Amino acid sequence: MKLMIDAEKCIACGQCKSVCIRDNIEIDEVAYETGSNCFECGHCMAICPSDAVTLKIFKGHEDRIEKYNPKELPVNYHDLLQFLKQRRSIRWFKKKKIDKDTFDKLIEGAYYSPSAQNEQDVEFVILDKKLNDFMKHVYDIIKVEEEEFFRIKEFGDYVRDNSTKKYHPLLWTGHQLILTFSTDKTSAVIANTRMELLAYTLGLGGFYSLFILKSDEIDHEKLMEFFPGIDKNKHMYSAFIIGYPKKRFKKTIPHKEIKVNYM
Ligand SMILES: Cc1cc2nc3c(=O)[nH]c(=O)nc-3n(C[C@H](O)[C@H](O)[C@H](O)COP(=O)(O)O)c2cc1C
Repeated sequence: MKLMIDAEKCIACGQCKSVCIRDNIEIDEVAYETGSNCFECGHCMAICPSDAVTLKIFKGHEDRIEKYNPKELPVNYHDLLQFLKQRRSIRWFKKKKIDKDTFDKLIEGAYYSPSAQNEQDVEFVILDKKLNDFMKHVYDIIKVEEEEFFRIKEFGDYVRDNSTKKYHPLLWTGHQLILTFSTDKTSAVIANTRMELLAYTLGLGGFYSLFILKSDEIDHEKLMEFFPGIDKNKHMYSAFIIGYPKKRFKKTIPHKEIKVNYM
């Protein structure tokens, strides 16, 4: 059994039953759990008007329960769209580093993310001190594609003799990196995107790196040697270089029209 249902508080309104997609709740005099079908999505707990339902795994996490008025949205369409419009990839960063408290604030965005099968297994790595070692590890993996991608060749030259290049060929002027791991690609990307959007609200910026991600595609086993504490069933699905922007952009530019197929 995954739920605790307080019979004293339950008013048998049936709202928990109505939102359960696993048919795991029935109502008699009060609500009760019928089996072990629950995947701990928490819908029953979130909708209960009398605080009668609690998920056992979240006992002790009551400080995470926050009541809100569902009719009052804290952002509107215009403001959010304007915020999205003003986003650009940032590759030129100040020397100032992001501190742990600020990273913790960003991870809050991921904490509230949806995940496939409600696995909630998205895991982050924040690379700072070990960034150069990590990048060498990445190079050892992606160098097999050096002939195909000039950027990887440049990266190789940089690793061999970094004095010849003005900027890092993969990190530009970035010096902190967030990697996102999960068993499910979509869940990782969703979590990372939320973290990224929150970063902009704190005056931070960054860009995604395709070449760092290649290391997982080319040799996952070897990549994971760098992260002995992370479950090998998880893949690295996002690499986001992050920092305080040195350059600020001033206008939007057009994008290719997005095709939408209504069927
Ligand atoms: C999945 C993904 C991978 C990317 N890889 C790189 C990269 O390796 N290096 C880089 O400088 N920018 C990278 N970018 C940033 C794109 O080049 C950038 O989004 C594009 O040039 C448009 O600029 P904007 O983001 O400012 O609109 C990547 C973006 C995405 C979404």
